[in-house]
Order: sequence, then C-alpha cells, then structure tokens
Amino acid sequence: MEKIVILTGAGISAESGLGTFRDEDGLWAQHRIEDVATPEGFARNPELVHAFYNARRVQAAAAKPNPAHTALARLQRHWPSEVVIVTQNVDSLHEAAGAERVIHMHGSLAGALCAVCDHRWQAPTEMQSGQPCPVCQVAAGRPDVVWFGEMPYFMDEIFDHLDSTDIFAAIGTSGQVYPAAGFVQGARRAGAATVEINLDPSDGASAFDQVVTGPATSTVPSWVENLLAKAR
Ligand code: APR
Repeated sequence: MEKIVILTGAGISAESGLGTFRDEDGLWAQHRIEDVATPEGFARNPELVHAFYNARRVQAAAAKPNPAHTALARLQRHWPSEVVIVTQNVDSLHEAAGAERVIHMHGSLAGALCAVCDHRWQAPTEMQSGQPCPVCQVAAGRPDVVWFGEMPYFMDEIFDHLDSTDIFAAIGTSGQVYPAAGFVQGARRAGAATVEINLDPSDGASAFDQVVTGPATSTVPSWVENLLAKAR
C-alpha cells in the first residue's frame, strides 16, 4: 500500500481557534515578523518576543484538536503503510488528537531552548527573559521555535520521506514559506500523487495534481474516509 506524507500548516488549526499567519486577521497582520519571529528581534527585545509566544502558548493550551486533526490520527492508525505528518505548526494539536511521529519542522511552543548551550527543556506556560538555562545557568532561554533566517528542523529526514512517498498532501498552508513550500516539487519528482487541501486554492495550487477546497474540518475527514475505503 502507498506511503503517505502530509504537510500541515496553520489552516488545520484555524477551526480550533488558533490564528493563522496570512489571513486578513492573521498573526502577521497584528505583529511585525521582524519584531517577534527573528533572532534579531529576540536580541533587540526578548520581553516582547516572550510575550508574543506566551500568549500563543496560553491560547494553544486551551485549544482542542478539531475533526481534521482527529481524521489524520485515524489515518495513521488504520492505513496499512506509513503515514508521516510534517507540521509547520508549533501547537500540539496533532499529538492531542492521537497522531504519532509528528515532525515539527518549525519547532514547538512546548519546547524551550538555551541559545548558548543548545539544551532543550519543557517550556513553562510563561517564559520570562533572563531565565537561567537549567544546565549552563546562562540567562539565554528562548522558545524552541524556528524563526525566519534559521534552519527548519529535521530537513534530512523530511527529504528522505518526500523521496520515497507515493502520496503527498499539503493541508492548510499558503505555500508562501520555503522550504515547506517546495515539498510538493520533491514529492512530484518522486512520482507521488499530490493533493492540496485548503480553504481556498493557494498561490502554489497549480503544482498539485488535485486541489480540494473548503474548511479542513470537512475536507480532511472526507479525504481520509475516501482513502480508508480504498484500503479496505
Ligand atoms: N481550513 C483549511 N484551510 C484554512 C482554513 C480552514 N479552516 N483557514 C485558513 N486556511 C488556509 C488559508 O487559506 C491559508 O492558505 O490556511 C492557510 C494558512 O496560511 P498561513 O497563514 O500562511 O500559514 P502557514 O502556511 O502555516 O505559514 C507557514 O509561515 O510565518 C511562518 O512559521 C510560520 O509556520 C508558519 C509558516
């Protein structure tokens, strides 16, 4: 049976009440990326950056997985071969829905990182600047989230999956940010069937064999049920 690789973006968590980035009411309409999502912004004003991620951590902790997250976890459980979920999201809603082996390429709100010694630990709900790292004691704790200008995580593993997948689905992502926006090309080179599942066609929709539009809480469960019907 075919291997499936799924890339998710903020759109899959929108109906759980978490803001997306580029929709008109999105996070990038409320904050300047250079102030809250770059290493330079953190160096300039760590309090502002911690406040931004603390607010998102509180919101994410109160959010519940929606039927799209649940459907993907169900697909992982019942599909007869590998289903890999690569997410750009920093919330933990895939895991809360029961998904396993979720690859967080942009890090996670649940993680804290020491900018000096690279030690990682479970982030408190509210991180303060000046908090000493539990290992090296230097006050260099930051959210373990990948900022613009930094390398996303697990790229080698992700490219290996794209080189060997038979089906690639991009769900709830505007396809504006690389390297994630280029994953569909990698999957196509591997001969995979590609599908975009999004509220509206993204600017990159033409790269996909199939485009399914609508809210993720209805499009993703029906996409999963159609796949599982094939596997029976
Ligand atoms: N169902 C399905 N798709 C939706 C829904 C919904 N209910 N609501 C919004 N969308 C779609 C939008 O149409 C948009 O194409 O989700 C996409 C969200 O796009 P972005 O806000 O750009 O989020 P994303 O693609 O995840 O951003 C990628 O950019 O800023 C960085 O690190 C950040 O991980 C993020 C990356």
